Amino acid sequence: MHPYTLLAPAKINLYLEIIGDRPDGYHELVMILQSIDLADRLEIRPNGTQAFRLTCSHPQVPTDETNLAYRAAQLMKQEFREAFANYGGVDIILDKRIPIAAGLAGGSTDGAAVLVGLNLIWQLGLTIPELQRLGEQLGSDVPFCIAGGTAIATRRGEKLDPIQDLDNLWLVLGKYHSLAVSTPWAYKTYRQQFGHEYVNDHSEIESKTSNINSGPLVQAIGQKDNQKIGQLLSNDLEKVVLPEYPQVAQLRDILQQAGGLGTMMSGSGPTVFTLCQSQEEAQNIKNQVRQTIVDPDLELWVSKLSNTGIQII
Ligand code: C5P
Repeated sequence: MHPYTLLAPAKINLYLEIIGDRPDGYHELVMILQSIDLADRLEIRPNGTQAFRLTCSHPQVPTDETNLAYRAAQLMKQEFREAFANYGGVDIILDKRIPIAAGLAGGSTDGAAVLVGLNLIWQLGLTIPELQRLGEQLGSDVPFCIAGGTAIATRRGEKLDPIQDLDNLWLVLGKYHSLAVSTPWAYKTYRQQFGHEYVNDHSEIESKTSNINSGPLVQAIGQKDNQKIGQLLSNDLEKVVLPEYPQVAQLRDILQQAGGLGTMMSGSGPTVFTLCQSQEEAQNIKNQVRQTIVDPDLELWVSKLSNTGIQII
């Protein structure tokens, strides 16, 4: 039993459409999800005890059962009692590099990494689809984070159809360090404001869901038409988050004016990104935005689209 070090990449949404309500209280979604190479690093080491111990480099990240990495370990213990009895607990040392409450699935990807890591340490031999089914119980984005790449995500976000990878593009990400958006708040507010437009009929939900496959953005991705991809980025949650957080709306405008293929908020925000053709273009845009917004609270990153999920290093 040796320790494993895993890289857990963040994701962005290239597309997020809210279709309607689900009986389980969640929303029916149609999304296109994309991994990026901004990643957390987790070391998972057997500790010879009957406990899971989580430590994190980021002081604001909880290390108790509210953390998805911890919950993933508990879920594995509950599902594989014999393996837990044989191999015992682990220390999880989380080096947090993805901003928190940012719309980048930072918590979900850590949970995904713990599922992958314990599968190895406890020698369970679970396949990726089996791990993804376990991941569904932790959060809607966890199954995607396990496999990564570029994928259409429907239902709650857990049903995945991988599509043509888009790994040759760069991006600039911007987020105000002290700003966090609650995902439940964003969806609840969307329901309050746009619930009257929700589709309730099952067959209409099915047809909206299947339309994405032949829709213009998936076609543009298939054809690697980068200009079109940039123009077709779309996120329904911008309609509630941008009016509530004018600072984010302003950051989005400034990023957009600085150039690139297209600009959008990721997930429930408040991270905003611009897709770029090259690293040089991304770096130029980052420098321009830094000069326009002279606020030390604004964090900017240059990153690359990635075609992988959880990686063992
Ligand atoms: O699944 P996850 O825990 O990541 O979702 C966080 C929150 O986002 C949920 O509690 C819910 O408020 C909202 N959500 C939703 N519909 C989805 C996914 C998430 O309403 N399909």
